[in-house]
Formats: sequence, structure tokens, C-alpha cells
Amino acid sequence: MLQPTEKIWHNGQLIDWKDAQIHVLSHVVSYGSSVFEGIRCYETQTGPAVFRAPEHARRLLDSAKIYRMDVPYTIEQLTQAMVETIRANNLKSCYIRPIVLRGYGDVGVLPFTNPIETFVAVWEWGKYLGEDALSQGVDVCVSSWARIAPNTLPALAKAGANYMNSQLIRMEASKNGYAEGIALDNNGFVSEGSGENIFVVRDGKIHTPPLGASVLPGITRDSIIKIAGQLGIPMVETIIPRELLYIADELFFCGTAVEVTPIRSVDRIEIGSGRRGPITERLQKRFFEIVQGSAKDEFGWLTPVSAVTEPQPVGA
Ligand SMILES: Cc1ncc(COP(=O)(O)O)c(C=O)c1O
Repeated sequence: MLQPTEKIWHNGQLIDWKDAQIHVLSHVVSYGSSVFEGIRCYETQTGPAVFRAPEHARRLLDSAKIYRMDVPYTIEQLTQAMVETIRANNLKSCYIRPIVLRGYGDVGVLPFTNPIETFVAVWEWGKYLGEDALSQGVDVCVSSWARIAPNTLPALAKAGANYMNSQLIRMEASKNGYAEGIALDNNGFVSEGSGENIFVVRDGKIHTPPLGASVLPGITRDSIIKIAGQLGIPMVETIIPRELLYIADELFFCGTAVEVTPIRSVDRIEIGSGRRGPITERLQKRFFEIVQGSAKDEFGWLTPVSAVTEPQPVGA
């Protein structure tokens, strides 16, 4: 269960957790008009550090732009808001949830007169698919639900409404005894999990579906691509037929929530040796060394909370 923290950032001000409320007739409640982010702040030896904060802030602004929502904050201001909220709540590590939504005003579908509200909340959060998932891997299925098609809801936007599709996938998987579901795209090719991107390893090479396969442009996906390049592991973004999942040497999910999680079976078909494979392990190890600050931050991915200073008033 969610453990409340003290403060939430709302339109530039820190407010009490309990006061971060919206009216039931806010546009977002009926029509799903929100865009949001999910970011992890890791505990490092030099204090808490946010993983790829500017990239997440940029994706939030991209999502808002796609939906014609004018957010009155820059990438730097949103990064500052994340850091301020972490500081205000005195957390060593946490999950960060910025949300931009269309608020209370008109009640029709056309949203242009409804106010845009921006919130940033933080809370402590553990492992998404359980403590063992990272080492043991998870059992998943291919969902009977397809991912949103490109000419219906845009997948590059991380919009609240997309997660109705994700919920169908995740609920079906859960009811059938799987940790997660993999959705195919509108053309029947592999897309992604309900809340994570997927990578397939075969013959020493890693494959992941391209952005055109209705995937979220995952920040962790991008990190894995860059880490693979650094480790000299060949990588290709390509269309993936469903059956390639079954005959893969290794499979893994990646995302802010699942980090890098091996998949040990799909539709009860064992993948490779049925346990975390060597390439997954190498990528996972490197990923954790970077995010936890035990390896040099060569890519410049960490924003140490202590390094971000408060903006000075004009004239100071
Ligand atoms: C549908 C979906 N795909 C992929 C991801 C992974 O994206 P990221 O690595 O930016 O968290 C997420 C999580 O945000 C997601 O919800």
C-alpha cells in the first residue's frame, strides 16, 4: 500500500499530501486527460540521485505537446520541482510521479478552457514484480489484448488513458497466474509489456521493437541500448514476431518500475535455460552499478539531489 509522504508539489508550491485533491468533475476524471511520468531516485553514497530526470521531464513535455496541453514549466523547472519535493520529504530513495492533468471547468470533451494542473508526488517504493524477480525472472504470457494502435492513441505519449489498455493486459495476466502480459501491436508483432519495454537475446545479439511498434519510448530502454553499446553487445531495433519470444536464448523487461527483469517463461514455454541469462545479467549489473552510483556516471544520468540549488530571486 502507498505510504503517504509530507508534501506534494502543485503548480510551483509545496502543499500537504492530504490537500493534493481534484474535483470529481475535473476533465481528467471523465476523459482520461492526463500525462505523467514515473522516475526513480536512488540512494547513492553521496546521497539521493534522480535517474535521468531531464529526459523524463522532456518526455512529460512531449506527451503534453501531443495532447495540446500547455505546461508552463521548462525541463529545468520540472527537474527542480522533483528535487524540491524529494528534499521536502527527506527521502533517501523514492519513486517520483509528475502528473499534468486537465482540471475543473467545462464538462464537455473539448478541453481548451479547462485549467492545466501540474503535480509532483514522491513516495518510497520497492521492487515492482517482487524481490526475487530481478534474479529469478518472471513467468509471463502473451496477452489476448493488443496494444493501442498508432492511429488511435499515440504510444509515444505517456498518457493516463493508455493505461486502460495496460490495465486490461495486466489484469488478464494476473487472473491467469502470470506476473505480466506482453502485448502484440496492431500488426501482430511484439510490442511491450503493460508497463515495460522488452528485449530479446538470440545468438549474442539483443533485439527490441522499434518505436513504430506502439511502444513507449522508455528511458530505461534507451539506457539499455546505450549500455549495450558500451559493453560491445550488438543491438538492433526491429520487428519481432511472437514466436521469436519462445525460441529466444534470453528475454528481459526493462522500465523504471521493473528496472531490468529477466523473463523465464512465456505462455509456459521455458526461455533458454529458464533462468537469468548471461547477457541479461551483464546489462543488469551495469545498470545497477550506474544507478546506484557505484560506477562512474559516464553518461551523466544522475542528478544528485544535493547538487541542485534553489533558483535565486531576480536581483539577488
Ligand atoms: C507502457 C510502458 N512501456 C514502457 C515503460 C518503460 O519506460 P521507462 O523506462 O521510461 O520507465 C513504461 C514505464 O513507464 C510503460 O508504462
